Amino acid sequence: CGIVGYIGHQQAYPILIKGLHRLEYRGYDSAGVALINSEDRLNVYKTRGKVNDLEAFCESKDIEGTIGIAHTRWATHGEPNDVNAHPHYSSNGKIAIVHNGTIENYNVLKQALEQHGCVFRSETDTEVVVQLIEYIQSTNRCPLIDAVREALNQVIGAYAIAVIDSENPDTIIAARKSSPLVIGIGEGETFIASDATPIIDYTNQVVYLRDDEIAIISRGEPLRVITNDNRTSSIDIQTLRLSVSQLEKGGYPHFMLKEIFEQPNSIYDCIRGRIVNNGTEIKLSGITDHPDRFINASRIIIVACGTSWHAALIGARLFESIARIPAQVEYASEFRYSNPIVTPQDIVIAISQSGETADTLAAIKLAKERGAFVYGVCNVVSSSIARETDTGTYIHVGPEIGVASTKAFTGQVTVLTMLALAIGQLRCTISKEKLTEMAHALINLPELIKETLKLNKNIERLSSIFTYAHNFLYLGRGYNYPSALEGALKLKEISYIHAEGYPAAEMKHGPIALIDREMPTVVIAPTDELHEKIISNIQQVKARGGSVIAIVTRGDETIPEIADHTLEIPPVPECLSPIIVSIPLQLLAYHIAVMKGCNVDMPRNLAKSVTVE
Ligand code: G6P
Repeated sequence: CGIVGYIGHQQAYPILIKGLHRLEYRGYDSAGVALINSEDRLNVYKTRGKVNDLEAFCESKDIEGTIGIAHTRWATHGEPNDVNAHPHYSSNGKIAIVHNGTIENYNVLKQALEQHGCVFRSETDTEVVVQLIEYIQSTNRCPLIDAVREALNQVIGAYAIAVIDSENPDTIIAARKSSPLVIGIGEGETFIASDATPIIDYTNQVVYLRDDEIAIISRGEPLRVITNDNRTSSIDIQTLRLSVSQLEKGGYPHFMLKEIFEQPNSIYDCIRGRIVNNGTEIKLSGITDHPDRFINASRIIIVACGTSWHAALIGARLFESIARIPAQVEYASEFRYSNPIVTPQDIVIAISQSGETADTLAAIKLAKERGAFVYGVCNVVSSSIARETDTGTYIHVGPEIGVASTKAFTGQVTVLTMLALAIGQLRCTISKEKLTEMAHALINLPELIKETLKLNKNIERLSSIFTYAHNFLYLGRGYNYPSALEGALKLKEISYIHAEGYPAAEMKHGPIALIDREMPTVVIAPTDELHEKIISNIQQVKARGGSVIAIVTRGDETIPEIADHTLEIPPVPECLSPIIVSIPLQLLAYHIAVMKGCNVDMPRNLAKSVTVE
């Protein structure tokens, strides 16, 4: 979910709506806004659907007011409908709240409040918090801030909240625990948001609220931050380095296509300054600052979710083959509840584009408790995971807005390759010559990506043939088995076509039963060590009447003879091929989804940043 809030001298509504659009990637089941007008009346408008639907709903309503909070939702408790949408408000209609996170003990609190006569309108965990605030405020006859603080002390779970009260029309109270919240400090105005993107149009001065902190944002007064146990907190103002143009579509019909085409630049930014000494050395401060950790490491455990988990699978192979450290990959959501064996000699690498994924954050907290050294590979600077880890490497690919991850995935694989090389260099498991060769191949990646993007028109034509499909199979081997998983995920996320990724040779143990003329198979088959083997796998598909789209290395003469369609990529070292094959896989998913009329930037039911379990 995404939260925005504003207090200042301007009208709040347009600022809140613009902010919600920026945050829509965090969820778009329903949206809402609460404003206090100049007569100190609280107006709450909310509706099922996207932010555009909210705007339509608010036409001809009283949207006046210089203080307000707003929300775009990704449903957890209660179906996405008008009533369950945020903001929620108290029985007396005076206090409104927006919330991102999950209140685990909401049922107990709800029952207790019901016994005191409180009547609930929605099925959400959030309404419990606002009703509790009102209950405490009226029974204790205390100021709003004390009521909020007391309520938060009774709540178990994760939250980022913002509260307004028409009896205190000059104050917003915001608080966080495990869900992100940023405060933007302008001239006589203050902004709050789940991330900095709604704020950058107005100010670059921000404060990242920490866990168990409550901010008191009052008109005309400096920001005050206290802790849940009522101690004054220090305020650390940081300067943002994000530009508005980075957040706009720049002439492309969708963010996803823009982000696919940005990859020559994003990979360049990701590598920049990290390959030094004429391409003979990899320099990552996260490693050079802690050499002993890596020299003595007995194992690497990578935790991640979704697309980042696919990058992790490639990373583990790189660590084992280049740095010769045993490496394993875990779904963060499984790892955190598996009572894992973690020792102080282990390095736990957390990969997360957003740096906010709740399961990944919980996994690294657990790893830290058990003494591991925790390394972050994030995109969003100063995100929760970036701050929670001992050190790390940013992928620096710029903001990714499309819900389906593209440039972040290739950035993650690039950083993991540099990490493996840097650790290999430190542990002397890679020769100088091999390292230099790999470093040059990395430097060459942006050019190769540019060349591969020329497939776009071809892929667009090809895609029109396959919009009929209900199922797709993606096959790959070695480094490209994770590419097959990622290709399949991209297609299913945005086109709603069921797709499965499989190690090519495993196909004969199950998926082969599905193959018929209706089921296309994408085979990732660059010329590498296992080329002959994958040719047999293609033959097995063809022999069962299946149609094959093959991704091959330029110059391959065999596969184009057997496959129905071939897409040629330039030659690239095997371990870097997942980066290059990603391009046609992303474009194929994109064009099929567009041709099917799907909303590629905001696919149904998904959210880009999943800050709940
Ligand atoms: C969501 C997104 C995916 C993403 C995953 C992990 O499911 O839709 O695109 O890969 O979360 O997100 P993270 O920000 O931790 O990489």
